[in-house]
Amino acid sequence: MLYRSTVREVDQDGPALYRPAYPANEGIVLNLPTRKQTMHSPPPTDVGAVRLCPLCNVAWAIDPNEAVFPSNWRCSSCDVELESKDRIILTAPDLADMISGFDPADFAFLAQAERDHFWFAARRRLICGLVDRFFPEAARFLEIGCGSGNVIEAVAQLRAWDRIVGTEIHTSGLALARERLPSFVELIQVDARRMPLRSLFDLAGAFDVLEHIDADEEAIEGIYGALQPGGGFIATVPQHPWLWSVSDDIAHHERRYVSGQLESKLERAGFTILFSTSYTVSLLPLMALNRMMARRAKPLQDPRELARREFHVSPLVNSVLTSVLNKEVAMTLRGMRWPVGGSRVVVARKL
Ligand SMILES: C[S@@+](CC[C@H](N)C(=O)[O-])C[C@H]1O[C@@H](n2cnc3c(N)ncnc32)[C@H](O)[C@@H]1O
Ligand SMILES: [Zn+2]
Repeated sequence: MLYRSTVREVDQDGPALYRPAYPANEGIVLNLPTRKQTMHSPPPTDVGAVRLCPLCNVAWAIDPNEAVFPSNWRCSSCDVELESKDRIILTAPDLADMISGFDPADFAFLAQAERDHFWFAARRRLICGLVDRFFPEAARFLEIGCGSGNVIEAVAQLRAWDRIVGTEIHTSGLALARERLPSFVELIQVDARRMPLRSLFDLAGAFDVLEHIDADEEAIEGIYGALQPGGGFIATVPQHPWLWSVSDDIAHHERRYVSGQLESKLERAGFTILFSTSYTVSLLPLMALNRMMARRAKPLQDPRELARREFHVSPLVNSVLTSVLNKEVAMTLRGMRWPVGGSRVVVARKL
């Protein structure tokens, strides 16, 4: 079944037109808008789950038994076959592994650091707890910016998902994710600002991703579109601009969110907020001290080394902080809301 999505014009401050760089484009008349600043509105909501061709934007129904983008997928409208790398379909190949929003060189370092590190372990527990508490019935899960698969690996183990899909802009992250994840987890390369899936998922998650994206509201709109009506969304972001440090620069953060900022953006997109709280409140004094010392320290030759120091903790300190954060997570999952903390988690539902 084929649906044509409509095109609407936005003002000059709107999102830049995405121009895919497929060599195969040559000679093909693409169904892309020709004005400088345009965006596509979602197809009608009653059409069911669809994939959008990243080149011509024509929408195609997705059969529940097929992959969201089967390998060698070819759009019958513009007759272009999407590129793939290591059997992972690329929907925005011109952006893959560019240093934009995140440095792909950090994936291997992070994949190693995050396994037992107290901060990552606590965040996994919090996210999995919220999935179970708010969305016990969800059967189709989408992660945006899944990196090397740290969180989706834990979410995959929570229940027997009908469909579980990880998306990420950088193929080097997806390659590491492919190695660690079971084959039923589908992986595709996607720029969150151009989400090519609509009306498919019961639950989506973006864990420390939105702060990397200049146009975070475009990503939020895409996530909203990818959900079924009633579908849920869980997002974690760093907060408090006064905690900004070299770690944020190195990580290519566009912002640390101020109180209420993420919630407002979600509501503007049509979400209802179910739960919102700061987290890692227990670490706040340590974080503030660490930031203060880093500001006073002589600049290192390699500022990345300074940022990475936050990951180097002795096993004793790691186990103490793990048990402190375990208690905090347990209280949060019982409904406690913390006024301050290095990060924020927001749970929302599509109306
Ligand atoms: C701090 S990492 C978090 C990775 C993963 N969510 C986790 O929690 O382990 C941020 C991720 O966002 C991804 N990202 C940044 N901009 C993106 C975009 N426009 N579309 C999709 N992913 C993006 C980065 O490539 C990176 O994998
Ligand atoms: Zn097409």
